Amino acid sequence: MSNRSPLCIGIDVGTSSLKAVAVDAHAVVVASAVVEYPFDTPQPGWAQTDPEVWWIATCAALKQLLGDARVEGAPIVSIGLSGQMHGLVLVDGNSAATGPALMWNDQRTDAVCARAEREITAERIWQFTGNRLLPGFTAPKLLWLRDHAPERLRNARRLMLPKDYVRLRLTGAVHTDVSDASGTLLFDCANRCWSQPMCEALAINADLLPEVFESITMSSRVHERGAAATGLPLGTPVAAGAGDQAAQAVGTGIVHEGCVACTIGTSGVIFATTNVWRPTPNGSLHAFCHAVPNRWHLMGVTLCAGGSLRWWRDTMCGDLIARARTEGGDPYDLMLAEAAAAPAGCEGVTFLPYLSGERTPHADPFARGVFLGISARTTRGTLTRAIIEGVTCSLAQVMTLVGESGVPIKNMRLSGGGSTSPFWRQLLTNALGVPTVTVTQPHGAAYGAALLAGVGTRTWPSVDAATSTITESNHCYPNDASGDLAAIAARYADAYESLAPWFRRAISRSI
Ligand code: XUL
Repeated sequence: MSNRSPLCIGIDVGTSSLKAVAVDAHAVVVASAVVEYPFDTPQPGWAQTDPEVWWIATCAALKQLLGDARVEGAPIVSIGLSGQMHGLVLVDGNSAATGPALMWNDQRTDAVCARAEREITAERIWQFTGNRLLPGFTAPKLLWLRDHAPERLRNARRLMLPKDYVRLRLTGAVHTDVSDASGTLLFDCANRCWSQPMCEALAINADLLPEVFESITMSSRVHERGAAATGLPLGTPVAAGAGDQAAQAVGTGIVHEGCVACTIGTSGVIFATTNVWRPTPNGSLHAFCHAVPNRWHLMGVTLCAGGSLRWWRDTMCGDLIARARTEGGDPYDLMLAEAAAAPAGCEGVTFLPYLSGERTPHADPFARGVFLGISARTTRGTLTRAIIEGVTCSLAQVMTLVGESGVPIKNMRLSGGGSTSPFWRQLLTNALGVPTVTVTQPHGAAYGAALLAGVGTRTWPSVDAATSTITESNHCYPNDASGDLAAIAARYADAYESLAPWFRRAISRSI
């Protein structure tokens, strides 16, 4: 028998990387591993990937994690899965993917959504699901395949979300959880079960859908092939887990009504936990099941938040990447230093962060990234600051919708890459208009998935107990250090309103 502390493992199948963490019975992360991967954009507005990429990354990350001296030999109690939401993975009768997975940031389904909203009506879709049918969601991807690649649908026996494909390879089970199922738009979030009326309205074969569980349910076990490929012990129980945003909320302690999160990863998300099912009247915010039984959440998404800064780093900041490599630092720190030195308001330069279209508050697949107002004085630092101000303005617009929904905002936690910069934290705090904090553990969704697994195997009696050890730091209060934010936000809003007709005319024709 090992005398080492038993561990729960959390795995997050992210957009650009897969993260695995091992968490001990004190809810402390003892080791972590990250494996990066790209995704494909074969046409503007498309985002897809071979699900095999996620499985290869899972095996690599778990081998690294299990080989870590702090993990080696410790009993593995349970595993929790989390992943990017809304992706569509279809597998055939032999459990082989019938083609690339269409991802959450894929915008190709605009015409399909418009047609479905016309035929079924937005009101009925809202009655069935509490949400709008938006291009990034899973259901319209199925309709798109029916029109454009019917053979893929004919060959498909089961449908699943990205993390559920990893579960399939690990355990052989075709399962999902209530939070990830919510983002398919085939789910009755109020009753936490698949929506028969929605499937019928869209003529989607409900036999494709995976069995659905509450996030903390241990729904399957690692099978022989899964154990051989990853090194995990045969029979280790696997929790249903959660979509990445609900798992992130668990990992940052956003589990009670009044707790609101602002997370900047590839996407930027404002997430508010609710004690009751509380959809917004026009579906302006997503209203989904939380990973905590009997709780729900409201959420709005800026599709390309940290993603905008990553694009800028990779296309325009090669010298900073090289300098960071030489000096052993992080190129983002160098970029943020340049931005902090630029004038607040960027001397009129406005950036719209719509590199992948937009979801909240503008459900607009044709919107695109824009710099407006560049002059001969504009420097790279000013453009970097404009990106940060633009992403912040977008998140502030989402926050306004959360305020309008009537959900109390008692505690605002910032997480994700953006929250590690004091400069961006202060800007966000000023734009959101409420005091903010960060949490001391930075492992987000993977950590949340590990906690859900630990609750499922009784390491902790409840999600509330598991998250009670999460502590706050970096208290930040609104001040006037970010310039005239009201004017910056008004200019930002006006830029989109002015350009929206152009996006529809010019971009819709080019994709
Ligand atoms: C949430 C969403 C994204 C993805 C990827 O609705 O689309 O946050 O889950 O992180």
